[in-house]
Amino acid sequence: MKTPYPHLFSPLQIRGLMLKNRIIAAPMGIIPSHKIISSVNYGGMSALDRSLGGCAMVHTGGMNHLDKYELDTTVEDLSVAHQNGARAAYELEFFSLPDEEGFVRGPSAGIRFDGMKMKAFDREQMDQLIADQVRRVRGCLRLGYDALTLHFGHDSLCGQFLSPVWNQRTDEYGGSLENRMRFPLEVLRAIRAAAGPDFPLILRISRQLTVPESYSENEMAAFLKAAEGLVDMVNISCGMDVVHAGNVHAVPTIFEPHCYNAEFARRIKQETSLQVCLVGAVMSPQEAEAVIAEGIADAVMCGRSLIADPYWPKKALEGRDADIVPCLRCMHCYHIATEHWNIQCSVNPRFRRENRVPLIPQPAAKRRRIVIVGGGPAGIQAALTADQRGHEVILIEKQSRLGGALKWASAGPFKEDLRRYWDYLLHQVRDSTIDVRLNETATPETVENLKPDALILALGAEPVQPRIEGAEHAVQALAVIENPKLAKRRCVIIGGGTIGCELGLELAESGHEVTIVEVSQQIYAQANHLTQTALFQHFERAESLHTLTGCACEQIGPDFVDVCDGSGQRQRLAADTVILATGMKARKSEAMAFYGICPETAMVGDCNRVAKILEATNEGYFLGATV
Ligand SMILES: Cc1cc2nc3c(=O)[nH]c(=O)nc-3n(C[C@H](O)[C@H](O)[C@H](O)COP(=O)(O)O)c2cc1C
Ligand code: SF4
Repeated sequence: MKTPYPHLFSPLQIRGLMLKNRIIAAPMGIIPSHKIISSVNYGGMSALDRSLGGCAMVHTGGMNHLDKYELDTTVEDLSVAHQNGARAAYELEFFSLPDEEGFVRGPSAGIRFDGMKMKAFDREQMDQLIADQVRRVRGCLRLGYDALTLHFGHDSLCGQFLSPVWNQRTDEYGGSLENRMRFPLEVLRAIRAAAGPDFPLILRISRQLTVPESYSENEMAAFLKAAEGLVDMVNISCGMDVVHAGNVHAVPTIFEPHCYNAEFARRIKQETSLQVCLVGAVMSPQEAEAVIAEGIADAVMCGRSLIADPYWPKKALEGRDADIVPCLRCMHCYHIATEHWNIQCSVNPRFRRENRVPLIPQPAAKRRRIVIVGGGPAGIQAALTADQRGHEVILIEKQSRLGGALKWASAGPFKEDLRRYWDYLLHQVRDSTIDVRLNETATPETVENLKPDALILALGAEPVQPRIEGAEHAVQALAVIENPKLAKRRCVIIGGGTIGCELGLELAESGHEVTIVEVSQQIYAQANHLTQTALFQHFERAESLHTLTGCACEQIGPDFVDVCDGSGQRQRLAADTVILATGMKARKSEAMAFYGICPETAMVGDCNRVAKILEATNEGYFLGATV
């Protein structure tokens, strides 16, 4: 079969294992939501999508304790993963759980970055750790796993032994690099002996932990040289698990480049005989193909792109790139981002809901006329889903192009992923039978004349016009996003929400002097924890960017802004451009005027409640799927 990605879809041998292509689904400890809701085990359905979707190898969740119930579900997970010829890998984790007194084990006693108290391992406990892992390795072999991924990355125990931040031992396991490598290498030797010479072992590492005084990339390269012969492939990751500051490098946000760990992967490929597998924001088949073709790595490991679209490998193989749903790197699938307040995927409503969201929406029992007012992400998603189900769909948009808020939300250097998503939506609409009516302002009368069987109102939101003296001297943030030339050298941004902060960073990084004035104590408050952390890391590096929190804007002049803090202290800020980023408000009252035309009427997306793409897409999908 001819494919546009010949390197990506070439087979790969790892010891005694043949992979059909170079795409490995990353380990992602995700609890399917149906397990939480009903405690009924439907099997590892996410793994099912990934194996049917064309990955060569899938990591399944599994058996930490090897008790009888876990064994049972793991056998089923394996069977699911093996469908369609995929192979199954198990991630062997090396983390210490808290004991009865609340201590975790580590190389040295102390306090971990996340505040956990640590006790140092003694020799007997280190032997016990190795014995436990060997027992799990034997269990994996017996169950029929095809490969093991040994998690030495992030802040796993073996990574801690390597790192002087965690490891302050004074015995032969601490101090010099040779000493710090000693225990991790002992673990590898024991696992290799248990696994046998022909069994594929993949070593997952962080090229750096992204905290000061940890091991250097040179030290990690030396460790990997020492691991040659013990493992077959190294999986190059970055960052840590236990603190947000490290998480944002393990699961790179929109503020980091794609293929985040490529340079170190290339180096290890050149300096060692190990096979190399790159992970971290490999976002498209084009990027994955380039990684293999340019000799950066032998394989790619993908996490979120396979949550957004588990079927992207199959689509890429068949040359259906335009049907691949791009991941936004918004982090919502990662429980840490919201501390479990909102784990969903922004672009894949089936994620964690494989038992209730079918792969292809159920055909409608009866074809009906669905009128949708507003062509932003919510309206488009509702239209696409209703169209897929066989309804007659009329989508009315007053602008000359579909996309709504995506027009400005996808502008700027950090929004490449969102731009791809917009392109994807436009392509899907072009490929559908939706009757799109652009440049048309819907009114209750025009909609009534269409005689809809169901009406979906997706009118979106509009910028809030603040009542500040002299506001006529300012420009709206959305105007600056559309035309960055409106921003002169010294910019004062009124409002430190999502739009204000992201625009502020973009302007500062392109040479402007920026002050963000926020009335509350917290900037970027609507973003999830991880996206926040990543933005703040970039704020710290942007020398020309300043923030004033707890400060109200009292007056705007032609070249100044007067602000006042909570204690009544006033100051005048010089400004060449004053930018209003004072939030968005739902077009709810406009939408209310459409009620009464037909009994089946619903609001969706920002016009109901100003939120994110996640809410727009998921609400749009479920409305389209049930209307
Ligand atoms: C929802 C989610 C769960 C994850 N769980 C794990 C895990 O259990 N073990 C692990 O080593 N990495 C885990 N990761 C990290 C991924 O394996 C991967 O390294 C990371 O997401 C970067 O790849 P990506 O940019 O393709 O998403 C998780 C990531 C996500 C998004
Ligand atoms: S939730 Fe966001 S980051 Fe996670 S897969 Fe979906 S789009 Fe990507």
